[in-house]
Amino acid sequence: MNLKMKGQGAVVVGGASGIGKAITECFEAEGCWVCVIDLVEPVGANARQADVRDFSALKESVDEISKYIGRIDHAVFAAGMGSGKFGYPFWNLDPGDWEDTLRVNLLGAVNFAHAFTPYLREQEEGSMLFIASVAGQIGSQTDPPYSAAKAGVINFMQCVAKDLAPYKIRANALSPGMVRTPINQSVWQALQEQIPENERQEYDVWANEKIQSIAPLGRWQTPEECAAVAVFLASSMGRNITGQTINVDGGQVMHA
Ligand SMILES: NC(=O)c1ccc[n+]([C@@H]2O[C@H](COP(=O)([O-])OP(=O)(O)OC[C@H]3O[C@@H](n4cnc5c(N)ncnc54)[C@H](O)[C@@H]3O)[C@@H](O)[C@H]2O)c1
Repeated sequence: MNLKMKGQGAVVVGGASGIGKAITECFEAEGCWVCVIDLVEPVGANARQADVRDFSALKESVDEISKYIGRIDHAVFAAGMGSGKFGYPFWNLDPGDWEDTLRVNLLGAVNFAHAFTPYLREQEEGSMLFIASVAGQIGSQTDPPYSAAKAGVINFMQCVAKDLAPYKIRANALSPGMVRTPINQSVWQALQEQIPENERQEYDVWANEKIQSIAPLGRWQTPEECAAVAVFLASSMGRNITGQTINVDGGQVMHA
């Protein structure tokens, strides 16, 4: 895209797979120095293993990375997980099913913001991006703890955007709709375990029917489509955009 980002430093938390991986590759294609932090051991010298639930471990990784790449201009929170259970109706889940989903998706985002803010504030300009979800905007019945955690992420992102604006650091959220990744497949898996065998469907059949019924454009979103928007938002082309939630969802959720 040539977004004039050559030499900038970017870190993608949750960058070992899916949308985070595509964002990592897109930053690299724009000439940035990129590092990945993930729960699974990511590949490469510029990668660290850390769990976003563990603030000390996350902060230690960010401290090491800052020495390695010198400067951190952009930080992306792309880590996430679902509860692994089908959440309709909500009493299908136990209150105990909420805890880990909130710890990874919401408290992980809080840990992320605390770990990166000191470094971003050293720059004259920079950005934070939280990968949220359309689920956080519609009270999705598929997985209520996930949906509520993502709503919390969007709200927290707005606080971050206001607090960091005086330092010329912008914060935004990107909400994908349906992207073919392990998280998306886990929703289908949870549903299959819930319904009688003769009503079960192959993943592709289930997902295609679902996407036709909920998204006006009727097509999957790809990790690369999400990544293009993520990196555009980080670049100076997005320099007047902060506190926003941008949906990459084929029109599933429309807002003014
Ligand atoms: N795929 C979709 O349809 C979809 C839709 C809306 C939102 N999202 C969101 O997009 C983001 C990326 O998900 P994805 O679809 O690429 O799935 P993914 O499973 O491919 O990627 C998620 C990444 O997060 C990492 N991760 C999970 N728990 C972690 C932890 N505790 N600490 C550190 N890393 C951890 C995983 O190891 C993985 O690399 C997530 O926040 C997800 O909720 C995805």
